[in-house]
Amino acid sequence: MKSPTGCPVSPEAAAFDPFGASYQLDPAEALRWSREQEPVFFSPKLGYWVVSRFDDVKAVFRDNITFSPSIALEKLTPAPPEATKILESYGFAMRRTMVNEDEPDHMERRRLLMDAFLPENLEQHEAWVRELVRDYMDLFIDKGRADLVGEMFREIPMTVALRFLGVPHEDAKELRKFSVAHTLNTWGRPSPEQQLQIAEDVGRFWKTAQDILDRMYAEPTGEGWMYDSIRMHKVHPAIVPESYLRSMMMAILVAAHETTAFATTNAFRTLLSNRESWNDICENPALIPSAIEECLRVAGSVVAWRRIATDDTIVGGEKIPKGGKLLIVQASANRDQSHFENPDDFDIYRHNAAEHLTFGYGAHQCMGKNIARMEMRVILDEFVRRLPHVHLVEDQTFEYLPNTSFRGATSLWVEWEPAQNPERRTR
Ligand code: HEM
Repeated sequence: MKSPTGCPVSPEAAAFDPFGASYQLDPAEALRWSREQEPVFFSPKLGYWVVSRFDDVKAVFRDNITFSPSIALEKLTPAPPEATKILESYGFAMRRTMVNEDEPDHMERRRLLMDAFLPENLEQHEAWVRELVRDYMDLFIDKGRADLVGEMFREIPMTVALRFLGVPHEDAKELRKFSVAHTLNTWGRPSPEQQLQIAEDVGRFWKTAQDILDRMYAEPTGEGWMYDSIRMHKVHPAIVPESYLRSMMMAILVAAHETTAFATTNAFRTLLSNRESWNDICENPALIPSAIEECLRVAGSVVAWRRIATDDTIVGGEKIPKGGKLLIVQASANRDQSHFENPDDFDIYRHNAAEHLTFGYGAHQCMGKNIARMEMRVILDEFVRRLPHVHLVEDQTFEYLPNTSFRGATSLWVEWEPAQNPERRTR
């Protein structure tokens, strides 16, 4: 078997399957052989070049001209004609947003819309996020057992995102249901039957998002990032076109919701499985920010991203032809021993943990990274104070949405003894 450049495909590369059990369970471990022997390889099963070492993944992220992000949200599994018809019936018209826009449009748009994401402008949100977290904890704190994903981690990032965007509260409920469908639609390998159900859900997600946007557009005086974007569109329609607003209204919810829900789930699972580290952050909550970075390194929620080569080029010594598609695997880069000492060890005192590539790198680096970090910090803060004795329920099984890029268990059961709660809140 040969790659598109005519080179032989190794048996390991031929066997690589991003939908197989080993990658789905632990993408970094599944690519250990690649980091060690063949850091850039063509995967015939995927039709992509897979990049697994830290320096190469970072170099691809850094050069968004040679490696265009235009395919970042392309459907990995093409839709059958019936699914396309369903989407059309909802007027689905997903175009470029931010994450998949090329230069120079991308940077002009990003600069116009960046303000709300700056750390100094995010500070105002922390108090209400904390209140929200406390309210959700109050719902289960006396029960002694909870599925943190279902009862909290999926809810908080969606509520925070909707409020950050300025979406009226009454419209929020509908949107919560659909973002899973978008993940499977974009990064999954659904069967033809599943494609039809997913197309229905994505279509409804799109339609709901458009109805909300229409209402916001009709009266663009409210507060929130979507209102800022609408106002910018009115002043700079060429830089912030209407197609961007329509696509972003849906895409930003996926960008903000599942990424953060999964990252929080992964962080709790990792910390509670490493009890010494958990005890350390309980004793000294000032360690929480560095513990979060280490969790994002070893158990990030975005494990792989995509680029397409705009010219013939070379990555890690391997020739990539113009038009070659790349799967750059951040989860693997984050465990590269040439960058992180003893990369498989979980170490909340690691000096360079924050150099992980989970948020991407360069011109497109995640705009919402500090919102995500703030949410995770506040949630951990409240847990170490109010439920330091929480522990994972033993022998639970973890399930994942089968897809290449978004990773996090769909439930996380924990237990504790309510009588030992250090703080009981009076309502
Ligand atoms: C872009 C990860 C949370 C908004 C990205 C990218 C990644 C990512 C990998 C692409 C980076 C690149 O191409 O270099 C994550 C992770 C999150 C998270 C792991 C949570 C732990 C959020 C949140 C928001 C957000 C909460 C918004 C409220 C965005 C936006 C972009 C982006 C707007 C596009 C930036 C651009 O292309 O210029 N994110 N994200 N993300 N993210 Fe996030």
